[in-house]
Amino acid sequence: MKIMTVVGARPNFMKAAPIIAAIHEHNAQLAGDPRGSSREIRHVLVHTGQHYDQAMSDSFFADLNLPHPDVYLGVGSASHAVQTAEVMRQFEPALLREQPDVLIVVGDVNSTIACALAAAKISFDSSGRRPLIAHVEAGLRSFDRAMPEEINRILTDHLADLLFVTEESGLRNLAAEGIPDDKVHFVGNTMIDSLRAYEKKAESSTILSDLKLTVDGPDCTAIPHYALLTLHRPANADNRDVLLSILDGLEELARECPIIFPAHPRTWHRIQEFRLDTRFHQSTAASGDSERRGGIRLVKPLGYLDFLQLMKHACLVVTDSGGIQEETTCLGIPCVTVRENTERPVTIEVGTNVLAGITTTSIRDAIRRQAGVKSTGAVPEKWDGRTANRILDVLIDCFDT
Ligand code: UD1
Repeated sequence: MKIMTVVGARPNFMKAAPIIAAIHEHNAQLAGDPRGSSREIRHVLVHTGQHYDQAMSDSFFADLNLPHPDVYLGVGSASHAVQTAEVMRQFEPALLREQPDVLIVVGDVNSTIACALAAAKISFDSSGRRPLIAHVEAGLRSFDRAMPEEINRILTDHLADLLFVTEESGLRNLAAEGIPDDKVHFVGNTMIDSLRAYEKKAESSTILSDLKLTVDGPDCTAIPHYALLTLHRPANADNRDVLLSILDGLEELARECPIIFPAHPRTWHRIQEFRLDTRFHQSTAASGDSERRGGIRLVKPLGYLDFLQLMKHACLVVTDSGGIQEETTCLGIPCVTVRENTERPVTIEVGTNVLAGITTTSIRDAIRRQAGVKSTGAVPEKWDGRTANRILDVLIDCFDT
């Protein structure tokens, strides 16, 4: 069997890495078995280059032990239509050349829909042979079609032959859209496989001391003391009034402890454009006591291990990211999501997440309610670090019969 996996943007890397690791492990187990070579899985990794710089891409390959991509499309940033079209244009020849049996796409970014769409219409021969399209993280719905990711999710799910679902809401959503049950597999969350695999290694990150985020506790122990913020959704970052109302909602928290804000490039550009720089401390390390006490500290985007370590020891996380709602749920860290909806309702039902909306008062109130909330330790079903193996078992079954 030949599998091709596509990654393109930052949130794809930690979802794909465990599947690639499981393929390598499968092949390693076959080594020495005389009949093993026929069951060996050949793997091709494609990076579309939707995200392309050190901070948004390269550092994740290093931290997650991802192999060097076999195919790099170098697509880069552009409008949605141009970026999607460019991925399709460049991906099609690679697909024709490699002719995989299975194409794995993950998540909901433009690279996901672009590659699924190219594969759905390809023919490798006159019989119309094409790869099976497997969508990892299928079925999530925010029911908000103003989000580009929601369009990508719906379309990718309707093109896919195998739909790998992370939480029960996904099963209901796909059934409601008429997707046949036999295409759908509830396997859990590969992003959590990565979290469990790298949690220990992240402890060796020096980010807490680099940013001077500890205070002295009893017996001279260093106690982490900070909150963490991420914002990158166009609906939040691209509108000055919305961005300001979110920052105002964080003011009370920022008086109690430093808020570390690793800003996505989109948000960074907007902060400059809207002349909001004065609302932040901009430094890589705390230079004085005032920064230790509070304020929002703008830092460059962080690598996977540094960010995981920061999440794990934060008193609270405020975010508009999808994946961070899931990661904080597993880590038991209170999370305030600055959005009106979430496509990941299990993080609210089982986890530590609340939806705050985007007004100053609703954010401030949600932060007050969440401060000091203790996790029950509950984790969503099948978020156990073994999802990639379940996915591989399904793929192997498809080709054994
Ligand atoms: C994309 C995804 C979003 C995901 C997010 C995570 C889509 C529709 N959106 O949004 O689902 O949550 O990634 O990061 O696919 N930039 C850099 N360096 C890079 C990449 C981007 O500086 O390596 C800059 C671009 O120049 C652009 C901005 O970041 O100004 C936005 O990048 P883009 O890929 O268009 O969308 P994201 O907002 O990152």
